[in-house]
Amino acid sequence: MSAPLVLGIESSCDETGVGIVRGDQMLANEVASSVEQHVRFGGVVPEVASRAHLQAIVPALERAFEKAGVSPDELDGIAVTSGPGLVGALVVGISAAKALSLAWNKPLYGVNHLVGHVAVDLLEHGPLDPDSPTMALLVSGGHTSLLRIGNLVDDIEEVGTTIDDAAGEAYDKVARVLGLAYPGGPVIDKAAQFGDPTAIRFPRGLTAKHDLEKHRFDFSFSGLKTAVSRWVETEQAAGREIPVNDVAASFQEAVADVLTAKAVDACQRFGATTLLLGGGVAANSRLRGLLEERTAAAGIILRRPRPGLCTDNGAMIAVLGAQVIASGAAPSPILLGADSGMPVSRSYEAPAA
Ligand code: KG4
Ligand code: ZN
Repeated sequence: MSAPLVLGIESSCDETGVGIVRGDQMLANEVASSVEQHVRFGGVVPEVASRAHLQAIVPALERAFEKAGVSPDELDGIAVTSGPGLVGALVVGISAAKALSLAWNKPLYGVNHLVGHVAVDLLEHGPLDPDSPTMALLVSGGHTSLLRIGNLVDDIEEVGTTIDDAAGEAYDKVARVLGLAYPGGPVIDKAAQFGDPTAIRFPRGLTAKHDLEKHRFDFSFSGLKTAVSRWVETEQAAGREIPVNDVAASFQEAVADVLTAKAVDACQRFGATTLLLGGGVAANSRLRGLLEERTAAAGIILRRPRPGLCTDNGAMIAVLGAQVIASGAAPSPILLGADSGMPVSRSYEAPAA
């Protein structure tokens, strides 16, 4: 089969994404975000997100087909995020994908959102090099993992993960402590540009010698978040003004330091010569910069999608769907359900054996 033409639908959180790809070529990527509707609550409200998906999905589909200049009958398949994510939000995308699959008589593939964050880099940098074993650092709002990638369809092994908060979650919580808007990642990233990353030495989770024995490739951001809160409370109690930019920069430095050090260590331990960065936090400027320095120093090839492709979108789901279809895998059952806890080792929902 020539490169499959795939429609991808994403609705796991607060972005309604519709993408169309041909193999690893992106033809359209329409994203409608409901983030504005969640700002005043300081986090995503599932019911609000579901309703926004319902309103956004049909117009996003129409725009995507118009942009791509293809018609539904040309499709080789429809890929949709089946997990992990918010169940009520996932269900909107899955229902749409099922309806289109039946109406257009096209095979349906339920795929993993997290693996989509890794696969999206193919749209920018082409296929993975089979001669360069790949490790992925996946950093999103809900997940932080190191993944050994044999291939994106059926060979992904999690070699480390967070034992408490995800990196993105820490960003969002620290932003709240600093009185900054939701989502915290982009605002802290911006504030940090004007701050001193060495102003405050915040803890680097799971990097002490005794932690490394059991948790060498695992992460912990809960202690860091608490350390930032305590520091801010102490300063406030003393009547001092909070140097928001310095706190943001120092916090960001602690996150980027741990993520990059462990990622490079994992590459060396598992013999990976390529490191692939993915997930919403992969848009972070300091993480991108420090990773570039440290992978270069270690002789590791760095692959990182442009920031606009790091956050949730439909093209990442479509490109993973294209990989699954190209592998010859059977479509998912039409009774496909949402799986809020879908493990990262399962790239797509295979039919029952
Ligand atoms: O992958 P994503 O779009 O959604 C999930 O699958 O969770 O990630 C969202 C997370 C949020 O926590 C947001 O604060 C964070 O990505 N984020 C960033 C940046 N842009 C988004 N974190 C740090 N720096 C950024 N520039
Ligand atoms: Zn995501």
